[in-house]
Amino acid sequence: MNFVMKPHQKAYPQEFLEDVLTGLSASRRYISPRWLYDKIGSEFFEAITDLPEYYVTRTEMKILRQVAPEFAEIIGPNASLVEYGAGAATKARVFLNAFSKPSEYVAIDISFDHLEQSLKQLAEDFPNLKVRPIAGDFLSETISTDLGGDTQKVGFFPGSTIGNLSNDEIATFLQNARNSLGDGSYFILGADLRKSPEILIPAYDDNQKVTAGFNMNLLARINRELGGTIELSKFRHKVVWNDNLSQIEMHLESLENQSFQIAGSTFSIGQGETIHTENSRKFRHEELKDLIGNNGWEITRYETGKNGYFAVMLLRAK
Ligand code: AVJ
Repeated sequence: MNFVMKPHQKAYPQEFLEDVLTGLSASRRYISPRWLYDKIGSEFFEAITDLPEYYVTRTEMKILRQVAPEFAEIIGPNASLVEYGAGAATKARVFLNAFSKPSEYVAIDISFDHLEQSLKQLAEDFPNLKVRPIAGDFLSETISTDLGGDTQKVGFFPGSTIGNLSNDEIATFLQNARNSLGDGSYFILGADLRKSPEILIPAYDDNQKVTAGFNMNLLARINRELGGTIELSKFRHKVVWNDNLSQIEMHLESLENQSFQIAGSTFSIGQGETIHTENSRKFRHEELKDLIGNNGWEITRYETGKNGYFAVMLLRAK
């Protein structure tokens, strides 16, 4: 058996409560996007990736398929692919198929439940691959990936999840990855690029209201897991293009003056006030060069596909 699952682990219930209480007590209320991805949230996100308006996943997949042979050639045999925030592992398959004799696939995710099924299938499809899930938040912890042996380490962070992070978080993440993957390692990074708000806004505010469901599920999750009394019908999904910060923002807007309770604490929120739930940054090439170059890596390949919507990069450890 090339796939060993650790005992079931519930992801951070105490931390979820603390984050929600802190964020909702702030003068500009916020909740970290990491909490969007419980089982239901992850299912919503999978559905988002199929939406006609959500160009992100489909654009990236096309570029990944296009660059895989060339990246595999540069990277060479015996690769250990370490994916940060792996969901369905669909994108990893593109490289595992392209690599010559891939050695190991390590998936790091906070939503452990979601990982189990997709990794079992992966282990079946690649009988010579060591498949290893690690439950954890790669942002707040330095993940010890235990990458022994003389395999070729390759970090993998697709999907433009990097766009959810602040510059400080990106710096910490890239430096930690550089340190744990070691000298001579590579990193495959996906980042969404700046484009017209006419394309961006519908991608985050789709016709079928799937993204609205994804965002609203956070309130439902607070009710489910933290004993919240939030009435979902008193909120709406709100999307803003912030041109200054070059980011799409998701908010939950209160439709009236209201109060609700979470784990014994009462919160009051006014009509029109919002809870900020996600930033999705849209990068410029120059900005990516600086962020990456200042934090332990250099860009060796930069591929944006025909429409220039999205960048897939191959980084090399400096
Ligand atoms: C998974 C962070 C890449 O920002 O596009 C999709 C999440 N939020 N629709 C993104 C998301 C709303 C997505 N990432």
